[in-house]
Amino acid sequence: MDPRRLGTPLAKRVWYSDVMQAADAIEPMSLAQIPEIPASLVIRGVSFAPALFCAPMAGHSHSAFRRLVSDFGGYGALFTEMLCGRWLLHENLRRSPATRRRTQEGRVIYQIMVRKEDEVAPILDRISVLEPDGIDLNCACPAPLVRATGAGAALFEDRERLERVLDACRRCHSGPLSVKIRLGITEAGWRERMADRLRLFESTGVDLVILHPRFVKEKLRGRARHELSSEIASLTRLPVVACGDLGTSDASRSATRSLPGLAGLMVGRMALVQPWLFASWTGSAPVVDHLEVWTRLCRYVLEDFPPEKALYRIKAFTRYFSRNFFFGHTLGAIATGSSDLSSLLDRGTAFLAARPALSACPDVLGID
Ligand SMILES: Cc1cc2nc3c(=O)[nH]c(=O)nc-3n(C[C@H](O)[C@H](O)[C@H](O)COP(=O)(O)O)c2cc1C
Repeated sequence: MDPRRLGTPLAKRVWYSDVMQAADAIEPMSLAQIPEIPASLVIRGVSFAPALFCAPMAGHSHSAFRRLVSDFGGYGALFTEMLCGRWLLHENLRRSPATRRRTQEGRVIYQIMVRKEDEVAPILDRISVLEPDGIDLNCACPAPLVRATGAGAALFEDRERLERVLDACRRCHSGPLSVKIRLGITEAGWRERMADRLRLFESTGVDLVILHPRFVKEKLRGRARHELSSEIASLTRLPVVACGDLGTSDASRSATRSLPGLAGLMVGRMALVQPWLFASWTGSAPVVDHLEVWTRLCRYVLEDFPPEKALYRIKAFTRYFSRNFFFGHTLGAIATGSSDLSSLLDRGTAFLAARPALSACPDVLGID
């Protein structure tokens, strides 16, 4: 029977996942599915090679995850999660898992969110002790709580304040300065607004634009409109890095084999599913032992976080990692349902030690 006729999400996954192997060595995506990656991007004398970036993801892009990704390598830089200006002023930045960095991570770009009342100079002064390879200003976050403070996507809309913030960033930070943006809040007039903001970025000394081509209200729904990415890149002399839905082998979402005019690519959620993704795109496909990788992530999280916080970080990672498996919903349910660390570790280990069948087509659909 054609499984699509069953109509259930599982049936659809059965249909799309036509190859299932109980094996540790995973096949890389076929070459036809891997987007073209520029070999390098040089900004203010800093080389990011390849021009492939691990996205900022709040709650995920902490020191333990960055360490795991850096064990595999293959990227040009890792982004931290979005860092709140006020928090940065009072935290021990060399110790906090949000900001600490290990030498093995290579290039790390620190992303900041700037609220209405924040002063940029002291924030950047604090971060400078970490010797960032770049500062990224979040102008994209759609979360209502963030926008209510004037940060994230709200800053993109407020032209005057955006100009002041960018001027201050440029005055206080002499290294690479990027902005992460979406298409804007409203569809009406978005092209004019985008052209205007790109001119503003050029005149205030921004070096790089990272574009997630969805409108704010779409959050992560639908698909990224990469047909617009090249068009937007053609409107500015600044390099543009594209982000959104890259790395999933679901052909309907990754219509991005070639993105003309783009300076680089950024991957978020699929790097949580496969932290070795950058290595497999840019070098030889690593042989992956899923149990070992998951156990290593747990160990790294427990080294960097206190136990009560480690639980939530491991749960969050596991929900994405579960997408590697054909019956990954079982591991996802273990992550969601575990209320203490030892049961999460025991049950997760039992699932993975059984060498579960792999999904041929891992995706991130439906994870919020
Ligand atoms: C859990 C989660 C947290 C995120 N946190 C941030 C963030 O802190 N800063 C940011 O600019 N984008 C954030 N994003 C958006 C990602 O950086 C990226 O733009 C988006 O997920 C689309 O890329 P992807 O399809 O490769 O995941 C987050 C996304 C997710 C799923």
